Order: sequence, then structure tokens, then C-alpha cells
Amino acid sequence: MSKVLVIGAFGQLGSELTLALRNIHGTDNVIAADIRKPQGPLSDGPFEQLDVLNGKELGRIVNVHNIQQIYHLAAILSAKGESNPKFAWQLNMDSLINVLELAREKQLEKIYWPSSIAVFGPNTPKQNTPQNTVMDPNTIYGISKLAGERWCEYYFEKYGVDVRSLRYPGLIGYKAKPGGGTTDYAVDIFYKAIEKGNYECFLRPNTYLPMMYMDDAIRATIEIMEADHASIKVRSSYNVGALSFSPEEIALEIKKHLGDFSIHYAPDFRQEIADSWPDSIDDSQARTDWNWQPDYGLKKMTETILAGLGELLNA
Ligand code: SER
Repeated sequence: MSKVLVIGAFGQLGSELTLALRNIHGTDNVIAADIRKPQGPLSDGPFEQLDVLNGKELGRIVNVHNIQQIYHLAAILSAKGESNPKFAWQLNMDSLINVLELAREKQLEKIYWPSSIAVFGPNTPKQNTPQNTVMDPNTIYGISKLAGERWCEYYFEKYGVDVRSLRYPGLIGYKAKPGGGTTDYAVDIFYKAIEKGNYECFLRPNTYLPMMYMDDAIRATIEIMEADHASIKVRSSYNVGALSFSPEEIALEIKKHLGDFSIHYAPDFRQEIADSWPDSIDDSQARTDWNWQPDYGLKKMTETILAGLGELLNA
């Protein structure tokens, strides 16, 4: 069994992906690393406290645990990145380069690194955004993800590093909250709907964004990592789509279950970020190359989250 390191293990994606990887590889074979201390269900397995900018410490962890695969999830997201662009660039880029360099030096088996729909920008076609198209991101997060994609492809082409990547849409789960993103409203709305019965949305009602339920995101990640080497034709990052909706639409869907729920709108600086991103994604290349197929639409996702989150908040 390969030993796996998850960097950013207590984030929104990491906390669910680490558990899924522990089910596959065995708890002891998946080392959770985060700048935060472990809590909840992840406390059960091996843990290393890590500041991703500390390349030396990262090297030590890889050696000590004999790591063969790294999932590098730590990043500063779109909205938060705008408050300190230089630091967001440093954290997002330097940490990726540290990981890629280690993979080259130690000939690690595989690397996973997430990209994002944030690589697209105001001049990108908005509907069914193609895999290859204009990319002019205008957030520092998007700029760092686009540059990161180029680094990944470079390390694959020049050094044969087996790095795989997905351009995630907004990820919607209820088990761990996201932090600092533009698509975060679509998580927060469920919490507020259950806890307060109303939600103030920082985007306008008709703002469409590509989104994905967390279970689909975890499955996509595991499927691309388990796919044959030869089937991975894109070494920058794959478009992956699932669903696309606006705040108005998700509010209506929630109202079908919680009749009293109300939403009002107070757009802020995040509106401009959302407006620069696609409405929907063409992921046909992922479907062709490694059989990507999403499972959750708006109805099924809403039902699942309201039931699961309701239980969680009651407990
Ligand atoms: N969910 C991210 C954000 O909103 C996009 O990848 O920043």
C-alpha cells in the first residue's frame, strides 16, 4: 500500500478526502498534515502539523513516513486572496513548487493538486466553457491557479512527475465549512436556512456559477488519481462539471423543503469575482479520458445536505 500525505487535511475538501483516502489505503497509511491541530473524526489517524511554506519540514515528513503520494490541497481562496495578494501568491505558488520539487527529487509515485474555475476570466466564454480557451483570471487566486497549472504540466513534461489535477467548480458540502471563497455562499445558505430561516447573500440573485456536491468532488479526485497513467491526457488540469445554479434557484430549491426560508441580497466585492467566472463548464475531455460522470443535481444535492446538516446541527 502506498503511503499518502494530505496537505491541508482539515480544510473543506481535505477533511472529507482524507477520510475517503483512509478507507482506501488504510488509516495508518494516510498522514493528515495541516497548520491547524486535528479535531473530529480525523484525530484518529496519523497527523503532522505543517506550515506548507516550510519546504524543509515537508521534506522531513515525506522521509519519515516514506510518503509516495501527496495531495496538496492547502491554498488561499479567491475572496480572501484579494486582501493580501502577495501573500496569497507566495503561499499558493511556493507550496506547489516545494511539492513538485520533492516529487522530482524523490521520484514520488503521484501528486494531486487542485486547480479551479478561477483560472478563467472576463474574456473567457461563459457558457459551457471549453477545456482550452481564453484564460485571463483577474483574482490573485485565479492567477496563482493558472500559473500552478503551467508548473504542473512543466514538471510532467520535463521531469516525468505524475501530477494530476482538476479545475473544481464551487464545492458544496456540509461537513466542513469553506473559508474565503466566492462560491462559499452555496454552503452558508444551508447553515443559515436551518439555523435562522433566512440568508443574506453576497451575490445577486441571477449569478450563475458552476458547482459540485462534495461526494462528486471526492469521487472525481479518487477516479483521476486511480486512472491509468496513459489515460490522463491533460497534465495542466481538467475541467470537471456537475451542476450550475444561481442564488435564486438554490433558494427556491431550499424553500421546497423549508417553506419559511427567505433570502435577500447584498452584493459585495465578490460579485465582480463571480461575474468574471464561467456560468457552466464543458467537461467532455474528462468524460472521454477517464469516464468522469457527475451524480448529484440540484434536487438530490439539496435533499442530501438538508437531511445531513439537519442531523449534524441537532447532534
Ligand atoms: N471555490 C473557490 C472560490 O470561490 C473557487 O475555486 O474561491
